[in-house]
Amino acid sequence: MRIVSGIQPTGSLHLGNYLGAIRNWVRMQDALKPGDEAFFFIADLHAITLFQKPAELKQATREIAAALMAAGIDPARAVLFNQSQVSAHAELAWVLGCTARVGWLNRMTQFKEKSGKDREGASVGLYTYPVLQAADVLLYKATHVPVGEDQKQHLELARDIALKFNTDFGVDLFPLPEPTIAPSSPRVRSLRDGSAKMSKSDPSDQSRINLTDSADDIRLKVKRAKTDSEPLPADEAGLEGRPEARNLVEIYATLSDATISDVLATFGGQGFGAFKPALAELLVGHLAPMNERFRALLAEPDRIDSALAQGAARARAVADGTMREVRAAVGFLGG
Ligand code: TRP
Repeated sequence: MRIVSGIQPTGSLHLGNYLGAIRNWVRMQDALKPGDEAFFFIADLHAITLFQKPAELKQATREIAAALMAAGIDPARAVLFNQSQVSAHAELAWVLGCTARVGWLNRMTQFKEKSGKDREGASVGLYTYPVLQAADVLLYKATHVPVGEDQKQHLELARDIALKFNTDFGVDLFPLPEPTIAPSSPRVRSLRDGSAKMSKSDPSDQSRINLTDSADDIRLKVKRAKTDSEPLPADEAGLEGRPEARNLVEIYATLSDATISDVLATFGGQGFGAFKPALAELLVGHLAPMNERFRALLAEPDRIDSALAQGAARARAVADGTMREVRAAVGFLGG
């Protein structure tokens, strides 16, 4: 089993990213068996498909690396690096760009969303982004790729590209990667509006729990979270039409590895005056130790940079082997 996944250094670090991706990576890492490997990278090459201010990109890369390590990614067990330090990602993306068909890319819904009305003004990189993503996973001959629902289409494209490459060149070079969609990752909603995603672009900081929030910030945000005036229902059906209540119950369930029914079996019939403090303490218990490690790491950027450099060296060793096979398959002269 070889697990490969990437995360962009552009999103902010909040509870939604943590429960959606980061925690899942940590669990996959912790479940690795002897002989299994995990490659986790920060997708800085993908980030620049939309313009990033250089100083901000650098800082965001360090922050996400620190958050991953604070959450439990151990650079001794998983290969952790930023994508741009392994130039084979870009090199393989070129070769695979000659395998992928324009018609395949034209079907990618994320490009349509991200380019919006100004398609002519979008970068070429934004258009070929899924080819780079295919290179990311095929470079390491990934078997399992943990991603969110929104990335499934890109992974299917990676499978199509791998299959066409193997067929065109009569090789069995790339295994077909499986997307592994985490079953337990909930869509964490805004604390102010149960119909909106928790997001860094929400102007209200009260709408989200940041991984950098202090214990008191967390308590206050949960206390102020929008709810209704009914007590919690006894079963899941009772959450129908109560998106804010559902969101808080879901966060509680996910953090405590319980089902919504379990949580309602405990809290059904109680009001938010009882539930919110319990949720706040659960959040603080999870996030406060992480927060402390995160701040300590950020205070020593050299440690982060050297962990990423070491991870990149390990990644390069694997990537170079694949690239030798790719060059031979394609017919490029030289080693
Ligand atoms: N495109 C992914 C996202 O935005 C990030 C990513 C880049 C990725 N390369 C990857 C995910 C390879 C999985 C595998 O979430």
